[in-house]
Amino acid sequence: MVQEQKNERKKTILSGIQSSGDITVGHYAGAIRNWAALQHQYECFFMTADLHALTVRQEPVALRKRTLDVIAMYIACGIDPESSVLFVQSHVSAHAELAWILNCFTGVGECSRMTQFKEKSQQHNENVNVGLFAYPILMAADILLYQADLVPVGDDQKQHIELTRNLAERFNFHYSPTFTVPEPFIPPVGARIMSLQEPTKKMSKSDENQKNVIFLSDSDDVIAGKIRRAVTDSGTEISYSVEKRPGISNLITLYGVATGMSFAAIEEAFSGKTYSEFKSGTADAVINLIAPIRGRFTQLRSEPGELESLMKTGAEAAAARARRTLSKVYKKVGLTERPR
Ligand code: TYM
Repeated sequence: MVQEQKNERKKTILSGIQSSGDITVGHYAGAIRNWAALQHQYECFFMTADLHALTVRQEPVALRKRTLDVIAMYIACGIDPESSVLFVQSHVSAHAELAWILNCFTGVGECSRMTQFKEKSQQHNENVNVGLFAYPILMAADILLYQADLVPVGDDQKQHIELTRNLAERFNFHYSPTFTVPEPFIPPVGARIMSLQEPTKKMSKSDENQKNVIFLSDSDDVIAGKIRRAVTDSGTEISYSVEKRPGISNLITLYGVATGMSFAAIEEAFSGKTYSEFKSGTADAVINLIAPIRGRFTQLRSEPGELESLMKTGAEAAAARARRTLSKVYKKVGLTERPR
């Protein structure tokens, strides 16, 4: 029995963040902190989605820098590079290769129904490119290559995982079992952190108004200022209700993410207090969370050699795993074997 448990393979996680902007407290709440919590129970692959970032025009020097920033931020947030594989998506060519095969199994209608595609094509109406349209298919390739069982993401990625599941099932049905059908892991708290000034809209790194967004690289003063100016509601009550009090509810969520306290405990702690007192408590909590992350990040970024060697090891480990799946897929669809 003990032996059996020992031999049992850990289940697999894959997840990632685009390197199209700086990492926000939303990324932390919806994704990274859950990766950190799950990392020792699973075999984990965490990547920077730099190919996905290209769906929107990027400044090349900034994109290269941010790709490294994202990896450093993962470690600064508590991902252990000794036990998880950290890598850059474009370093493993199997992602683009499997995406092509999956393109041939995806209906145009399926992609055009994706909420994020609809939103992004409105936001970037000067550049509605095929990459933006096929974006969820590349994401499906990311996940299916590693035979991931679980994909921890924020709420906005749920529809993309649903598509991934459909593609896996379709392929498995058409040929024979090939891909693990993954489950999303959407956290009960913090799956959708909202904008500070417009709390009915998701907090987004690319928001033109930077006061809406808390970045993990923000200084203590900047964090305090953004929270102080956050839009609250007309009432006085500090209690969670997204419908009645979206602004306060968003701050309660941030407080909960930063401290691990339940909503009920936060409400009790601030019962009878003013919005201003609550905001200053929230600012302190968020600063206590972010300041050490920022410190570790700065330290890691001052040692580029370490990060580069880590990316090399990560790319090799990821490529070996991805190649196994891709070879199976190539064989099943009828591509001829590469002469050795
Ligand atoms: P991206 O880069 O937009 O966001 C990365 C992760 O952070 C979560 N997130 C949030 N969670 C809570 N509140 C917010 N305001 C918030 N903003 C972002 C997202 O839900 C996501 O989990 N397509 C993906 C990246 C990707 C990926 C993958 C993810 C590429 N391949 C494979 C998982 C598996 C994306 O654009 O996420």
